[in-house]
Amino acid sequence: MNNSRVVVSLDFSDAKQALDLCLKLDSTECKLKIGKELFTRQGPTLVERFINMGFDVFLDLKYHDIPNTVASACRAAADLGVWMLNVHASGGRVMMETACEALDKSTHKPLLIAVTVLTSMADDDLREIAISNSVDKQVMLLAQLAKSSGLDGVVCSAKEANHLSTKLGKEFCLVTPGIRPANSNRDDQKRIMTPADAIAAGSHYLVIGRPITKADDPLAVLEAINKEIETAS
Ligand code: C5P
Repeated sequence: MNNSRVVVSLDFSDAKQALDLCLKLDSTECKLKIGKELFTRQGPTLVERFINMGFDVFLDLKYHDIPNTVASACRAAADLGVWMLNVHASGGRVMMETACEALDKSTHKPLLIAVTVLTSMADDDLREIAISNSVDKQVMLLAQLAKSSGLDGVVCSAKEANHLSTKLGKEFCLVTPGIRPANSNRDDQKRIMTPADAIAAGSHYLVIGRPITKADDPLAVLEAINKEIETAS
């Protein structure tokens, strides 16, 4: 595993675009995130290819199913050699504990983190599925449940990082998207933070897509972000 705290989000539909980008990056300077679209189109072969190129891979498939099914999927991801994977905390304690137990048996144990409340959901959306808690309260409840079920951390907004880090401890891993270097395009992100501010707020890993993937010189942007993080750490 390298020391980089930047996870480049490969939001591409085809392998060639993703591979072209990764050939411009440096596997010691970042990690990679592969999500549902790229994985569904290209499958585990592409994941293995990136791992063989020396990259740490976060497999962002957000498993949510009965405990046995999630545990088996987590084990399969661990066998692929991924560095990090995730599940929905709303799958409950038994699902998360069973997933942790499955990973404990693997020789190459990835980090297991949880998604709490999707950032696409507001209080009204929660009420519609019979959750009376506010989003903030539900995020904290599910993050605490993830921690007490043995998970390594959660995905959260950098805006929530300070509060979660105070409540759950600095060791609990916070993985934060919505990161934008100063003066870069916000794209469709509404609540953004700079890399330095996110690190100062308690983020462990920063998920960054378009500022790097759409740059003329992705490696130069990545190196500048790493420098900013180093200064903030
Ligand atoms: O290009 P950008 O930096 O906005 O990409 C952010 C990545 O993080 C995308 O893959 C997006 O789906 C993911 N993400 C997010 N907000 C969340 C959870 C995941 O932006 N709350």
